[in-house]
Formats: sequence, C-alpha cells, structure tokens
Amino acid sequence: MQHDRLLIVDFGSQVTQLIARRLRELSVYCEIHPFHTVDDAFVTRFAPKAVILSGGPDSVTRPGSPRAAPAIFAAGVPVLGICYGQQVMMDQLGGRVEAGHHAEFGRAFVTPAPGHADDSIFAGLFQSGREEVWMSHGDRVTRLAPGFEVVGTSPGAPLAMIGDPVRRFWAVQFHPEVHHTPNGRKLLENFTRLAGFTGDWTMGAYRDEAIARIRARVGDGKVICGLSGGVDSSVAAVLVHEAIGDRLTCVFVDHGLLREGEAAQVVGMFRDAYNIPLIHADESGRFLAALAGVTDPEAKRKTIGRLFVEVFEEHARAVGDVQFLAQGTLYPDVIESVSVSGGPSVTIKSHHNVGGLPEKMGLHLVEPLRELFKDEVRALGRELGLPASFIGRHPFPGPGLAIRCPGEVTPEKLEILRRADAVYIDQIRRHGLYDAIWQAFVVLLPVRSVGVMGDGRSYDYVCALRAVTSVDGMTADYFPFPHEFLSETATRIVGEVRGINRVTYDITSKPPGTIEWE
Ligand code: XMP
Repeated sequence: MQHDRLLIVDFGSQVTQLIARRLRELSVYCEIHPFHTVDDAFVTRFAPKAVILSGGPDSVTRPGSPRAAPAIFAAGVPVLGICYGQQVMMDQLGGRVEAGHHAEFGRAFVTPAPGHADDSIFAGLFQSGREEVWMSHGDRVTRLAPGFEVVGTSPGAPLAMIGDPVRRFWAVQFHPEVHHTPNGRKLLENFTRLAGFTGDWTMGAYRDEAIARIRARVGDGKVICGLSGGVDSSVAAVLVHEAIGDRLTCVFVDHGLLREGEAAQVVGMFRDAYNIPLIHADESGRFLAALAGVTDPEAKRKTIGRLFVEVFEEHARAVGDVQFLAQGTLYPDVIESVSVSGGPSVTIKSHHNVGGLPEKMGLHLVEPLRELFKDEVRALGRELGLPASFIGRHPFPGPGLAIRCPGEVTPEKLEILRRADAVYIDQIRRHGLYDAIWQAFVVLLPVRSVGVMGDGRSYDYVCALRAVTSVDGMTADYFPFPHEFLSETATRIVGEVRGINRVTYDITSKPPGTIEWE
C-alpha cells in the first residue's frame, strides 16, 4: 500500500470507528488497531505518518490500565489523544491524571486559550468565538506533561485541549469524531494536514491498487464469487473481474426468496452487461421444501443458511479447479473490537456469506473490500461504472422474503408479498422518496381479516408497510410519510394485489423494534 498511513490505537471507545470514518472522508488512509496488538515493533512496521489514541472506558489511575506503545511518542510523528488518549499521553509523558473529579458529559463550549487563537491546529475554527463540542470523561488531567500548554478551554474543562506544538502532540478532552462536535472534522483535518497528509486516499487510486493486489494474490489461479444481488458482493465481483477477467466465475444462488424481477436483474447485469461467467443456480424448490412447516424465525435463518452453504458448495465444485473464493467482506466486519464484542453485523453476516466453506474446500480468500466502509464501497462501485440505481438500492437481508413472511413460508404467500412489495416500492419511487429512506418493504402478516369489496365479503391477508431512516442499520426511525401517500398506497395494494384486503403502517423505531420483523 503506497498511501500515507495514519494509525488509530483503539482503547475501547464506542465511537472509535467514527474517527476512521471522518478521516476517510478527508481522503486520509487510516487503520484501527486494538491497543494490545500495538507494540513498538508493530509501530515500526506500520510506519504511521501520524497516530491517534482513541477514547476508552478505563481510567489511567487504575493499576494495569492500558497504555500506548512508547515507540508512538518516539517516532517523531504527530500524535492526537482523545479523552482516554489524552490521559494516556499525560501519564506517559510526565503529567498527572486524577480520578474522582466530577464527570462531565454532553455539550460544552471550547474557546482558544489566550494567545492560541491563531494556532494552525485551529485554522478555520472559532469563527463565532467558540466551538460546540461533545464531552464525555470522568478523570481529569491535573498537571501537564513537560512541553505542553493549554490551547483551548471550556468552563467545565480548563484543559479541554492541550498541545506541544514543537513535538506536534495534541490532546483533547472532548470527542472531535462525533456528530455532536459539529466542527470536529475540521479539527481532525487540521491535524492531518499538519502531519503532512495530502488526502491521497481516493477511490480511483484504490481501484488500481486493489486490482494490482488481486492479480498478485491470485496469479493464474481461478476464483469463484457468491453473488447475492447486494452491493458488496457485486462490487467485489466486478473488481475481481477487472483484475483477472474470465478466470472469475460467479455463483448466484437463487433461493426463491428474492423480490419481484430481482433474479432476472442480477443475471441481466452480470452475465449480459458485464459478461462475467455466471452460474444462475435456481434452487428455489429446494429452499421452499426445506422451509415447509418452519415458523420460528431463527429456525428459518438457520435452515436457509445451512442450505445456502450446501448449494453454493455443490455449484462451486462443479466449476472445478478453483483455488480462491472472493467475498465482499467490509472493514467494520474485520475491525477487532476492544470493547463491546461484535455488533449485530457480526451475527447478521454469518449465515449469508459462506462461513466455514473456505476451509472445507481448501479455498483461499480474496476480500478486496476489507479496508472499506459501506459508503466507500458505493464510491468504488460508481468508479467501476455500476449503475447509480443499483448502487443506491436499499439493503436486503440474506434470508430474503422468508423473514418478511412471519409464520410458514409458502409459494402462495411469497407471490402475494412480492406483488405488494413491488407496488409499495413503485409508489415510493413515484413520489421521489426512495433515496430519503434507508429501507422500505412489505411484511405479509399471518392474519386474515374481513373486508368488503364491491358487494361481497372478503377474508384476506393483512400486510404491514415498513419504511425507516437510519445511518447504519443499528438504530432507526420510522419514515414520516404524508397521510395522502399512505392512503393512496393502501388503495393501490388492496386494489392491485389479490389476497390482501387490509394495510397497516409500522411506526415502531429501533430500538425497541428491529427493522425486519423476524
Ligand atoms: P434488524 O432487523 O436487525 O436489521 O434491525 C438491521 C439490518 O440488517 C438487515 N438484516 C440482515 N441482513 N442477513 C442480512 O444479510 C440477515 O439475516 C439480516 N437480518 C437483518 C436488515 O435488513 C437491516 O438492514
């Protein structure tokens, strides 16, 4: 990797990933590594151009609490300590930190210390005299390390920001990486520019490097890639295809739980538009047979997951003489977390990638998106010429419509669900709302209700419409559709979809609900 690299040492803050995201937005290449893996030898190997020490839940006053590798401070590169990182710096560089002062959480306002308003680390900040920041700390620094001075203060935190401009060390008590510090990104930008970063992390450059790395890894070997129709696996497939051409074969396992027209779209795009060798494994019969009588949500997921791996393996073996498996694994899936282990994403992914298969089949992994966040994958997709409408698609879960059909999944119910979902999405597109929504879909409830249609009585299914806004799927709010939209959509669904006579709208946020119903 030719880029300038910034090392983020993770002390277990819940928001460490946000530091990386903000830096990537600034076109700065960075990696997060847990403190216990970063020793002096690691720092030398990594050769960072700058280091950020993250926040964390511990207290440096506790014996045995985490510290930074000494090489970080000896490397001659700029260092920024955030919250716990600030305390680590003070403790290791000769200052003093005390516990037991009242904790400070939430919004605060920082002003430059006298004589520091023009510091280059503050370039473009303090336009209105002060900056809003997000504080979250318990301990506090009571004596500065030699060389340090106060550069910014807040009423509750006299040492809100301290610095040693000669060594280019800075430390803040607040969190510049979070949304609630509106100009925090600017502070991080100033830090990286002072460290000499030029913003050389662009998708165009990444694409060329990734292609070179894939070629070097694969040599003249053959690769298979499981396509799900989602953005990640698609971008991975197109990238690998650019690197090694027809030595890539894609296997698209169609489990019969896709939305209307989706399978045809995937086949059309990859086989016809991109000319990528593609096996369309239409296995819907097998999946539906396995799901017969299964009503428990977890049992459904497990059944689908198990069969998916089995079917994928059969088709992969049929390709013959393959040494590599390409996967669209993303950076959030590989960051080794210090604190909260896993997030939902860890469990979410396990079933629908082909867990365990590489070892079983003796395949080596090719994971060209391992360093990227989701929004960067989208940018790479655009760089590779994938259609904008495809890249902007709402996420779709691996178990597909099975988890949008509470109760037993049957071909009849799937057909009704597909029709209703197509009408709903069409409505959303017609009203220009698709891109404002994170995910929208119909859930077909295992309930029938009485209605009156024309002069007759109906006794049909009830469906629930779901639409949420979200940043990452971890939390979500229901989308505030205008009433006219809802009534028009209900009228269309009941009128156009046989089998549904009642429509409801789900107004639960996450938490306490989840986005999907199962
Ligand atoms: P929940 O329902 O947990 O969903 O709030 C959060 C996000 O994850 C997606 N999701 C899944 N994706 N396999 C997937 O690939 C799954 O089993 C799965 N379950 C939920 C969901 O669509 C939402 O975007």
